[in-house]
Amino acid sequence: MRQPTQPVPGGSPSIWSRLSTLTDYFAWPLRTSHYLELVNPLWTTHKMQARVVKVWDETRDARTLTLRPGLNWRGHRAGQHVRVGIPANGKHYTRTYTISSAPQRYDDCFTITVKAIDKATISHHIVRNIKVGDYLPIGLPQGDFYLPDAQHIHPLFITAGSGITPAFSMVNSLIAQERLPDTCHLHYAPHEFDVVLGKQLREMAAQYDRYHLHLLYTREENHPGNARFSAAQLDALCPDWKERDVYACGPPSLLEAVEQCFEQAGCSRNLHIERFRAPFTEIPADAVGGKVRFAQSGVDAEGDSDTPLLKVAEEAGMNPPHGCRMGICHTCNTTLVSGCVRDLRTGEVLNEAGSIVQTCICAAAGDCELDL
Ligand code: FES
Repeated sequence: MRQPTQPVPGGSPSIWSRLSTLTDYFAWPLRTSHYLELVNPLWTTHKMQARVVKVWDETRDARTLTLRPGLNWRGHRAGQHVRVGIPANGKHYTRTYTISSAPQRYDDCFTITVKAIDKATISHHIVRNIKVGDYLPIGLPQGDFYLPDAQHIHPLFITAGSGITPAFSMVNSLIAQERLPDTCHLHYAPHEFDVVLGKQLREMAAQYDRYHLHLLYTREENHPGNARFSAAQLDALCPDWKERDVYACGPPSLLEAVEQCFEQAGCSRNLHIERFRAPFTEIPADAVGGKVRFAQSGVDAEGDSDTPLLKVAEEAGMNPPHGCRMGICHTCNTTLVSGCVRDLRTGEVLNEAGSIVQTCICAAAGDCELDL
C-alpha cells in the first residue's frame, strides 16, 4: 500500500525547496511561493492549503470532504486531527477536525467528516456551502490519539456521533496494513439513519470477521440495541473489555460515563480518550461575569461567567486568532490588562495584570480588560 507523498511539481520536496530558496533571491521582497500560488495554490510553501476535490453527504447533517493538500503536508497517523481554516461571512474561522481517512490512501488526499452541530454556524456552513474546487487553509496533522505502530493491541472502540471519525481511520488503517486484530466497536447514534459513515462501517463488519461492530441507537425505543452506555452493556457486548486497549471519542456525557466505568473497574490505564471540547469544571453558583474590554480593538462586550472570551469576542464582531478552541494550541493566547478571568477547565481565577489568558477556555470573572 502506498504511503502518503507530497504533490511536488517536478521533483522531490528537498530539491523543490532548495530550488525555491535560490529563486527567492529574485522574487524579493516576496518569495517564489507567492508567485507559485498564482499558478497553483497547492504549490505554495509559505502557507499550507488544500483543495476540496470531493464532497459527499453521509447523513442528512454530516458531510465528508476529500481534500488534496499542497506542499509541506506530511502524512498523518490514523486518529490525528488537523486544523482547517473556513472563510465564512467575510471572516476567517479555524476549526479542528479529525482526519477520517486512513493514512494509506492511494491518491495522497485525506478526508474530514463534519457533522452540523446545533448552533454551530461554521459546521453548518461546511456541510451546506463548501464545494468542490474551494481552497482551504490547513495545518499539519496533530494529536496523540493514535494506535501504537508496532505493538500488538487488542482494541475496543467506544464512539458516538462524529466521534466515529478517529476510530474509522484507525480501523481502516489496520485493514490497509493487513494487521486488523480482533476488534470490538460500540458506536452510539440517535437513530439508524444518523450513523455517520454507517454504510462503510456495516460493509467493514460484513467483510472482516475480526471486526465486531455494535451499532446502538439511543432514541429508538423499540430497537433491541436501544441503550445508553453502561458497564452492564459492555459486559454483554464485549465481555473481555477489561483486558482491551480502549479508544473512546464522542460527546462529553459519553466520555464521562466511560471514564467513570473504567475508574470503578480499576482499569483506567487502558483507556485513551479524545475530546472535541475541553472538559469544563463546574462553575460556582455565585460566579458572575462582567464587562469585557478588548483594548487593542476598542471593543466592549458583556461576558457571562461560563462563556469563553473567544466566543464573547466573536459575538461582538471580532475575529480573534484561534485554533483548537479547547486549550491545546495556545493560538488564542492574549494578556490580561486588568480585572479577573476564570479558567473554565480548572475554575482557577486569574487576576494578575500581565497573566496569559487563553481566550477559548477562560471566561470573565467580573470586569476585565484584555490586550486584544
Ligand atoms: S484556540 Fe487553541 S488554545 Fe485556544
